Amino acid sequence: MKEIRNLINITDLTLEEIDGLIDVANDIVENHEAYEDICAHKKLATLFFEPSTRTRLSFEAAMLELGGSVLGFSEASSSSAAKGESVSDTIQTVGCYADIIAMRHPKEGAPIVGARRTTVPIINGGDGGHFHPTQTLTDLLTIKRKKGRLDNMTVGLCGDLKFGRTVHSLIEAMLRYENVKFVLISPQELQVPDYIKERLNEEGADWKEVETLEEAMSELDILYMTRIQRERFFNEEDYIRLKDSFILDLKKLETAKEDLVIMHPLPRVNEISTEVDDDPRACYFFQALCGKHIRMALILFLLGIKREA
Ligand code: CP
Repeated sequence: MKEIRNLINITDLTLEEIDGLIDVANDIVENHEAYEDICAHKKLATLFFEPSTRTRLSFEAAMLELGGSVLGFSEASSSSAAKGESVSDTIQTVGCYADIIAMRHPKEGAPIVGARRTTVPIINGGDGGHFHPTQTLTDLLTIKRKKGRLDNMTVGLCGDLKFGRTVHSLIEAMLRYENVKFVLISPQELQVPDYIKERLNEEGADWKEVETLEEAMSELDILYMTRIQRERFFNEEDYIRLKDSFILDLKKLETAKEDLVIMHPLPRVNEISTEVDDDPRACYFFQALCGKHIRMALILFLLGIKREA
């Protein structure tokens, strides 16, 4: 029987597999016509129990551009979850209708529970404050396209590092490349969770924590900004106190390297001033485009479909 592959955590993929996805994503751009009907008669279900713009729509655009079709829901309230149906029953049902499922859920671990109840591949499009592996693939493709490498660099991660699942997945991924230094920029209350610090130490990574962007700016090759995750705070007062902890503007970029790559998984709230958008170092909308290309490659990989030579 064919082995079913899921993507729940970025560590479900080997480095060779990630390199392969990046190669296919680049080939898709160079040879777009070769991929136009490659997923004909295949269906992707997008089950989003939490809001999304980029992840859901880039998955849907990816499948449509591969010649497949899409079905699904964009909020729990329009599915039978609103009547009390469990995640595993929903997944088991949708597995009867679709060839592959991309899902987002507010509860950590929900995609694993779902994957146990179906024989179609499950892709985690974000589970609570836990992981967001397809954002990480997006980020790796963006860095590779902009820098030409994924090793030998200093990466600054700034903002809500406690609840920011994209940060947790990206650190886990970049720990696997040689000589990557991490500068973690956050208020004390929003530092990365202890298990991420343990992973950094286990891998012998060079990392430090600072509380201002100014302290870190001049040494960074990548600056990964994140939003303060309002929806994960227990009380609104804490959110209001911390929400404008970091606002990147042109003044703060004065000491930055000329080839700095500024990234953000988006959505942005206040943390990057719009005046930065026209700076050639601002890559966050390019990053959103990379998200579609890498998700096309991922769908093909999980469905076991290759372009004919
Ligand atoms: N980056 C990201 O996950 O964006 P969405 O929440 O819009 O999907």
